[in-house]
Amino acid sequence: MFDLSGKVAIVTGGAQGVGGGISRVLAQGGAKVLISDIDIDMARYTADQISKDSGIVECIKTDVTSYDDLRRMVEVAMGHWGQLDILVNNAYAAAEGQQGGALEVTEDRWESDIRALVTSVYAGSKYAIPLMMEAGGGSIVNISSVHGFLVAKKALTYETGKAAVIAMTKQMAVDYGPNAIRVNAICPGHIVTERIMENVWKNNPSGLKFFEDQYPVRRTGIPEDIGNAAAFLCSDEASFITGHALPVDGGLTIQLQENFGVQQVHYYMDNLDTQMPYKR
Ligand SMILES: NC(=O)c1ccc[n+]([C@@H]2O[C@H](COP(=O)([O-])OP(=O)(O)OC[C@H]3O[C@@H](n4cnc5c(N)ncnc54)[C@H](O)[C@@H]3O)[C@@H](O)[C@H]2O)c1
Repeated sequence: MFDLSGKVAIVTGGAQGVGGGISRVLAQGGAKVLISDIDIDMARYTADQISKDSGIVECIKTDVTSYDDLRRMVEVAMGHWGQLDILVNNAYAAAEGQQGGALEVTEDRWESDIRALVTSVYAGSKYAIPLMMEAGGGSIVNISSVHGFLVAKKALTYETGKAAVIAMTKQMAVDYGPNAIRVNAICPGHIVTERIMENVWKNNPSGLKFFEDQYPVRRTGIPEDIGNAAAFLCSDEASFITGHALPVDGGLTIQLQENFGVQQVHYYMDNLDTQMPYKR
């Protein structure tokens, strides 16, 4: 476990899923954590669980597509603890309905998806960086995806958004490195969250087994896998690491496709996209 005691962290979308894992692990490391989430009831539930485990945690209702909410989020962290050291830009929820390629994606869908995927990361960081400068430095972790490297069919906005998050990570790392602010991205493989388990795999264990078998480590991820990577990147042990996009994917993206395993996964996911209420 990495020592984050004395640090103040914000985790957007920190109530559940990947963000829930990040909130829990950062708190276990001793960070004071502000869970920022649009679902305030779930945020309170997760905060209660963390408190019972002796973590120091608060929560705030935030919609990361709102500039005002993001401004208020950093002010609230400052109000509680007087400093800000860590921001994890994690929140994202897919809009209802299919995405598609350039021909299918409507102009409105493009604007709203890019706002949720990209603008939220820009704005959260924009408001957090001056406070980190005041604190003498800090660490930003942006949650991208293996979809920032590899492209599934007809998923224009998600793939574009997650690649943009990697580009933004490098840009901010270069720009604010001199201020002792490190910026890294994590690119998760398939993480079985509460929501994905409920919506996709609960009634399809053989589908999950098929999926797991495509991974070199023969398992999919859990939210704590991403939490552990985030804790490392925010720790002093990672003080010489900035501007990187770290795949945390059980080896998925380094596997040669000679047996077409990855294509099979994408084929499977395409079918899920059309047949099930699956949100990537
Ligand atoms: N689960 C995976 O397999 C996976 C893989 C790669 C990347 N990711 C990325 O991880 C991040 C989290 O995904 P997840 O699978 O944990 O999702 P999730 O749906 O399980 O959790 C998302 C959390 O974000 C919150 N949220 C949604 N919209 C929000 C908004 N506008 N403002 C504030 N909070 C909001 C939700 O209430 C929820 O608590 C996303 O950036 C996603 O792209 C997930």
